[in-house]
Amino acid sequence: MTASLEAAAAALRRSRATTILTGAGVSAASGIPTFRGEDGLWRKVRAETLATPEAFENDPKLVWEWYDWRRGMIRDAAPNPAHHVLARWTRDHGATLITQNVDGLHERAGAKDLIRLHGSIWHVRCWRRCAAGADDWVNDTVPLETLPPRCPHCGAMVRPGVVWFGEPLDAAILDRAMTAASSCDLFLTVGTSAVVYPAAGLIPHAKRAGATVIEINPDATGASSTADITLRMKADEALEAIDRSLVNR
Ligand code: OAD
Repeated sequence: MTASLEAAAAALRRSRATTILTGAGVSAASGIPTFRGEDGLWRKVRAETLATPEAFENDPKLVWEWYDWRRGMIRDAAPNPAHHVLARWTRDHGATLITQNVDGLHERAGAKDLIRLHGSIWHVRCWRRCAAGADDWVNDTVPLETLPPRCPHCGAMVRPGVVWFGEPLDAAILDRAMTAASSCDLFLTVGTSAVVYPAAGLIPHAKRAGATVIEINPDATGASSTADITLRMKADEALEAIDRSLVNR
């Protein structure tokens, strides 16, 4: 074990309250491209230009084609060891897991009380927010029968139940995440470029409140200067190595 891995494992062992923030890098080993990685483009279009209310207003079919493609890829993927280790920590060690991911892989691995900042790719709601269709419901049909899918209540389009750029996060969910960040003694940021706010703000928030911060990411990010311990590794490899050392303690 490297010194950084030893230090991370020791911090986990000491911790009485651990909070973990994840991003797309956690699902990379499941074969799902990250947003800002080289394979994150779809038909040469950047995610930031598709994941907005304006893009949807302009070309809902195009935006739904992107989501339909991602839903197909995610349906065929499976949680990887990073998801499984983190899920076990939520169940057995009371860790709080916060994710920016919408793919549902943490849930499929059995994560307990997951805080989902950006919604779910398996949820939809009425674009016109008709009375019966304003709240999210599950639609996990892959591929979708019509693009864009229609609201069963009013016939308007439905939209994905995810948070788009320029949209606020659900206040209650963000509040839970802020509390989990400020009340932990150890904060892990795993597989996120830490550039999208308010999610990225949880890292300095935890640090200011006194937590030790560990970053797991093969590359440097906006959070690297805040981290006390940096593991330049893939999420599945780092988390499995730490978990082994916890089990064997
Ligand atoms: P990004 O694509 O911005 O960043 C992914 C991060 O994962 C990068 O820092 C990579 O270095 C790292 N990475 C790649 N492979 C990895 C591996 N095997 N193990 C660990 N890390 C790895 O994705 P996010 O940070 O999740 O928002 O992006 C944040 C938000 O921006 C997303 O939730 C989404 C996106 O647009 C919305 O949909 C609102």
